[in-house]
Amino acid sequence: MTEISSIKSSFESIIKKIKSNNDLDQLQIKYLGRKGLVNNLLQSIDRLTQDERKDFGIKINELKTLIKHLIKVKRQELLKIENASDYIDITLPGKKYPKGSLHLVTYGVEEITKIFSRIGFIRMSYPEVEWEHYSFEALNMPKGHPARDDFETFFIDEPAHPKYGKMVLTPHTSSGQIREMQRLGKPPIRMINIGKCYRPNWDTSHTPMFHQFEGMAVDMGINITHLKGTINYFAKEFFGENRKIRLRPFHFQFTEPSFEVDITCGVCNGTGLLRNPEGSEAQKCRLCKSGWLELGGSGMIHPNVLKSGNIDSKKYSGWAFGFGIERVMMMKEGLKLDDLRIMYNNDIRFLEQF
Ligand code: DAH
Repeated sequence: MTEISSIKSSFESIIKKIKSNNDLDQLQIKYLGRKGLVNNLLQSIDRLTQDERKDFGIKINELKTLIKHLIKVKRQELLKIENASDYIDITLPGKKYPKGSLHLVTYGVEEITKIFSRIGFIRMSYPEVEWEHYSFEALNMPKGHPARDDFETFFIDEPAHPKYGKMVLTPHTSSGQIREMQRLGKPPIRMINIGKCYRPNWDTSHTPMFHQFEGMAVDMGINITHLKGTINYFAKEFFGENRKIRLRPFHFQFTEPSFEVDITCGVCNGTGLLRNPEGSEAQKCRLCKSGWLELGGSGMIHPNVLKSGNIDSKKYSGWAFGFGIERVMMMKEGLKLDDLRIMYNNDIRFLEQF
């Protein structure tokens, strides 16, 4: 019996040190082989009394089972080391792959679409490559008119159409006004046209491609209060309940009267000042300086524009506005970018913040 336990303990201590399959094979032969230690021990059974034999047999079988088991475990262990590169430790925490998000402007497009759909405005998209006619003439800006200079334009190098002029990359979404009037044929019209715009500028506050959203309502009896009410609704939904807007007289060729729309700044709450925490002198707000931020242009649609859209300007009236999406998104985030171009640089450090 003591021999059984000494074989057991010697086997256990040797197998711990085994590092190769070859050594393990040798060890297996030494212990379990035909002339191995276990079999040798079994032969000594002859020397035992009848009573002792039964117990001895059981113990030897237990030893054999244990040795077999330990060899099997060791083989698996060696296999794992051999295939270390394929080995998967399922207890390790999983790899985290970076999760993408939408671009700031895409969030803007989605939210603006929803806000206006709640009050019955239909989202439209119109051509990005457009005729000069729709971008200018039909909007009361004939050739040579100085207002056209404000909309510096990319021209497509193709022969001009006899009626519609040259092809351009849309410099503003206002061309969608005419397209929508012509599509529907007659009012009522409630449209929100969201699209890309192009102008050949590349500096800290301009990218050659940017986005605008153009609202338009045409019906009988439409007046400035509807324009103001709608922009007010948008401002509160998009920026927050406390924001206020104001209309400032301006000039656009396609609206009369025309306004620029301002909204109270969200960083300083429309005061233009930021108080220092220590109670020292207040400083000018870093975002707006005056308490107001400029949203964009708007006005009552000029009768000539209604005419271009085949709408009877004696019977119907309408309003329109056009705002920049990059601009409203920056205002919403309270962001003042030193360089607007970062929006389109694909710099993950900027993009992942939204
Ligand atoms: N199209 C103008 C621009 O790009 C913005 C604008 C001003 C649109 C007044 C309008 C409007 O619809 O009524 O600067």
